[in-house]
Amino acid sequence: MKLTIIGTGKMAEAIIEGIYRDIDVTVVGRDEGKLKYFQDKFNVKTKPLSYSVDISNENVLLAIKPFALRDVARKLKGEALMLLSILAGVTIESLRENIKSQYYIRAMPNLAAAYQKSMTTLTGDETCKKEAVFICEKFGKALWLSSEKELDIATAIAGSGPAFLALVAESMSDGGVNEGLKRKDSEILVQGLFEGFYELLSHKHPAIIKDEVMSPGGTTAAGVEALEKNKVRFSFISAIKRAYKRAKK
Ligand SMILES: NC(=O)c1ccc[n+]([C@@H]2O[C@H](COP(=O)([O-])OP(=O)(O)OC[C@H]3O[C@@H](n4cnc5c(N)ncnc54)[C@H](OP(=O)(O)O)[C@@H]3O)[C@@H](O)[C@H]2O)c1
Repeated sequence: MKLTIIGTGKMAEAIIEGIYRDIDVTVVGRDEGKLKYFQDKFNVKTKPLSYSVDISNENVLLAIKPFALRDVARKLKGEALMLLSILAGVTIESLRENIKSQYYIRAMPNLAAAYQKSMTTLTGDETCKKEAVFICEKFGKALWLSSEKELDIATAIAGSGPAFLALVAESMSDGGVNEGLKRKDSEILVQGLFEGFYELLSHKHPAIIKDEVMSPGGTTAAGVEALEKNKVRFSFISAIKRAYKRAKK
């Protein structure tokens, strides 16, 4: 498979890291220094984003800033085969208005793409579903959704999620330090907790995990009481609601 990636930022690099061994990648960008960096690091082909970049019949992955869409679109000529956009908040309608392609797909990766562990959601033309999922699975897990509404909700969970969980991780570590643990030890504990928790979550429903740890009148029950008193569930549900509302805009 051949793929033209437009953009040379953090996400482009994370994605290329995952795909360059299996996919014939050409990177298009306006910064020659970054193009040279990609050539040296991944041995991929590069093209300057000058006026008249021909994308006819190509699979194109768009990884520029959302506000740059019009500016970049003006420089593209021809009709792509598949346009796979990772631009947050940019609808398929808006992509269609700006860039010609036979098929359009929106994908929402997350920061873990840098370690090939992104939880990416996709939606769009079913004709290209297989190819788009193939690309996204190279840098993590991929889940096809049936509408852009679902993609916006998923963005609030998997896109913003690393920031939400970072707050959980940081505050648990702070809690340990507050009670007298060394900072480094507290951080190692939290990292190990998240690593093990992934396995637990892969095998058991969260309610079962909680019930299994929470013995009558025990340590965990006391902690859960404090979390519930501070509306932990309501806080997370509200965070997803607010993030989704923003994603729609
Ligand atoms: N970071 C995330 O966690 C994440 C997650 C999901 C989706 N996304 C989406 O991924 C896209 C890229 O994000 P990123 O984190 O990789 O951003 P980034 O590191 O800031 O890179 C942005 C890229 O856009 C290019 N660009 C900006 N304005 C341009 C213009 N007018 N003409 C041509 N190129 C232009 C930049 O080129 P220069 O380097 O030359 O300025 C750079 O290559 C965004 O649309 C974002 O919504 C990001």
